[in-house]
Parts: sequence; C-alpha cells; structure tokens
Amino acid sequence: MGLRWPWLVVLPLATAVGVAAVAWTTHGVGPASAASVLGPVPVPADNPQTADKVALGKLLFFDPRLSGNNTIACATCHQQAKGMSDGRPRGLGLGGEMPRNAMTVWNVAYMHAIHSDGSRASLEEQADKSVSGPAMAQPYPALFDELRAVPEYRQRFAQVFPDGVTERNIARAIAAFERTVLTFDSPFDRYRAGDKSALTSEQKQGLDLFDSARTGCSSCHVAPLFTDNAFHNLGVPQVGPKAVDNGRSDITHNDADVGAFKTLTLRDVEQSGPYMHDGAFTTLDQVVAFYSAGGGPSPHKSPLIKPLDLTAREQQALVAFLRSLTDPTARVTAPTLP
Ligand code: HEC
Ligand code: HEC
Repeated sequence: MGLRWPWLVVLPLATAVGVAAVAWTTHGVGPASAASVLGPVPVPADNPQTADKVALGKLLFFDPRLSGNNTIACATCHQQAKGMSDGRPRGLGLGGEMPRNAMTVWNVAYMHAIHSDGSRASLEEQADKSVSGPAMAQPYPALFDELRAVPEYRQRFAQVFPDGVTERNIARAIAAFERTVLTFDSPFDRYRAGDKSALTSEQKQGLDLFDSARTGCSSCHVAPLFTDNAFHNLGVPQVGPKAVDNGRSDITHNDADVGAFKTLTLRDVEQSGPYMHDGAFTTLDQVVAFYSAGGGPSPHKSPLIKPLDLTAREQQALVAFLRSLTDPTARVTAPTLP
C-alpha cells in the first residue's frame, strides 16, 4: 500500500483560504477531490476575480500586440496543445533563445514559487516582467498607445478598472485569467475518486512505485499539485545558452541552493516536454531513466536523489502512471482578438 501523501506542505495554504484540508491517501476512498483538498484558488486582496477581468486577461494572454514587434503572445509559449508550454527545449523570445524551458501554466494559481528559481513573487509580477523582459521585449508606454488605439480594449479596460489601460492593470487582468487555467480531471483523479477502472494495471503499478519509499517521487511531487513548491538539486545536466545556471541560489545567495530548481508539477506532463528547467530531456523515459540512475553529478545534490535501479518494466510503469495525469477535458481555446 502506498504512503500517505505528505499533506503537511499543502495544509497552510488550504487553511489560509479557510478550507479544512482532508488527508488524501492515494488508494483511499472519500470525497477529497484535488479541488476540494486545495480549496478555492487563492486570490490577492487587491486583484479580485471578476468575469469581465478574466475575459480581458484572456484576450491579452493571446494577443501578440503584447510583444515588441507584435509577433509573440503569452500563448505562443504557453499553448494548450503543448501542455501550456511550447514544445521547445527552451523558450524562443524576441531577445533570442531563453536559458530556461517554458514550463506549464496549468494550475499555476496554486503555486507559491513562480519560475524555476522562485524569482517572481506573484502572477501579477510574472506577467508584468514577461511583457517587458526578453520574452516579449515590449516597452510599456508604446503598449499603452497600442491598446488604447483599439476601441474594444479601451471599453473593456474602462469596464474593469477605473483607471483604464495601465501597466498594473494589464498584469492584473492576465493574472486573473491565469487563475482560471485549471486541470483536475485526469484518469488519476477519477481513479482517486473511486473509479478503479480509470487506471490500467501498469499505471496502478506505476502509482505504487511513485508513492513508495523506494523511489521517493511523491515526497517532492506532492499530490494533488504534484509539487512541494520547493527547490531541489537533482544534478540535471545544464544545456542551452547559459553555461551555468545556479537556480535558486541566484535569489537566496545561499550556497545550499546552488543548482536547485523548483519541483515542477507533473499534471499534463506528457504534453509539456522537453523536460526540466533547461529542457535537457526530450522524453519521459529519459527523465525516469535519469532518476533510476540516481540523478546527475553535483556536490549540492539532494540526499533524496539516489540510484533506484529500476527495471525496464518498472520504468515503463512509472511513465505510464505519469501519462495518467493528463486531463483530456482541459481546454484553453483562443478567443477572437479585437
Ligand atoms: C518566448 C516564450 C515565452 C513567452 C512569450 C512567455 N513566456 Fe511564460 N515562461 C517562459 C519561460 C522560458 C518560463 C520559465 C522561466 C523560468 O523558470 O525562469 C516561463 C514561465 C512562466 C510562468 C511560471 C510558471 C510557474 O509554474 O512558475 C508563468 C506564470 C508564465 N510564464 C506566464 C506567462 C505570461 C502571462 C506571459 C505573457 C505576458 C508569458 N508567460 C510569455 C516562456 C515564455
Ligand atoms: C528531491 C525532490 C525530487 C524527487 C525525489 C523527485 N523529483 Fe522529479 N523533479 C524535481 C525537481 C526539482 C524537478 C525540476 C528539475 C529541473 O527543473 O531541473 C523535477 C522534475 C521532474 C519531471 C519533469 C517535469 C517537467 O515538466 O519538466 C518529471 C517527469 C519528474 N520530475 C518525475 C519524477 C519521478 C517519476 C520521480 C521518482 C522517480 C521524481 N520525479 C522524484 C524534484 C524531485
């Protein structure tokens, strides 16, 4: 039987939003769906969700006007068909190839740590800096003029924000939209809710392995988000334009954090490859083989990462389980831009 999911990490969040968190064992039964365990999406007091704001944010997320030469939208690098990522090892922005992989934005509403190094404090800050940074290279004053020139945007901004088109309001609307991009209806969720036929026997074997003390996968990839919102060094090989990526320690300036990156969510992971902060692995088989071998070499490697010596069948079962985390009903359809 599997271990209990380590809910303690999630409890403070659930308590903060006033919802009694319930222990959720992988094989147990009960009403505790992912959504009920996580509680309502946390929303900052100064940016309440409204339907008009979410609709405006969705337009902005899909609008290439938000980039310097009007060719790249947030949705260029965060596409639903590619697991809200872009299918590339590393993002290709207006400033050239970025050092990191575009990670999924599914369920990002529940993330405490944003970006692989946790460098962004909120979705609002993240959106604001994506627009003006190397991804989209759009200077703000010019963007205000571009958006104000579109009557529908003028009207929609005025409806949602008394002060109309501003840098802060653009970021607030995008963040409000992102808080609706959720996916919690995978075969795994249905299995967990009591439909024992939702997983194949190979996927159940993979789930047992994932949840076992032997692999320790679930001690970092904590359900239901499949992340502990923390940073770990796995010894992932560094590839791409950046020769050395110190990860979390760039933010904390703490030696213990050198080469530590955010534990990535595993929801919809089969769609969002390549994998890891730098896109070092193309397939889930490669990722699982990497863990089986005990990660890569690093003086700062997490003590939780050790050789697992998984058989080929066990590795396949783990990959099959990871594929059960895809929600086939999840859709983020492109709106008609004004
Ligand atoms: C050119 C590609 C590109 C574009 C355009 C882009 N992103 Fe990203 N996005 C990335 C990359 C690469 C990362 C990973 C950054 C890191 O970890 O340092 C990322 C990370 C994120 C994250 C963090 C997710 C998490 O779990 O921490 C969010 C949220 C996000 N992007 C939203 C946006 C929004 C909103 C826009 C538009 C305003 C946008 N992105 C535009 C490539 C892009
Ligand atoms: C010590 C904590 C820890 C353990 C244990 C752990 N992981 Fe991870 N996992 C991470 C971190 C951190 C990352 C991101 C690394 C990076 O970006 O370089 C990650 C990334 C991944 C990814 C890639 C996700 C993506 O979108 O790129 C997969 C798949 C994955 N882990 C599966 C597993 C499996 C399967 C196991 C058990 C065999 C496991 N992990 C054990 C911390 C852990």
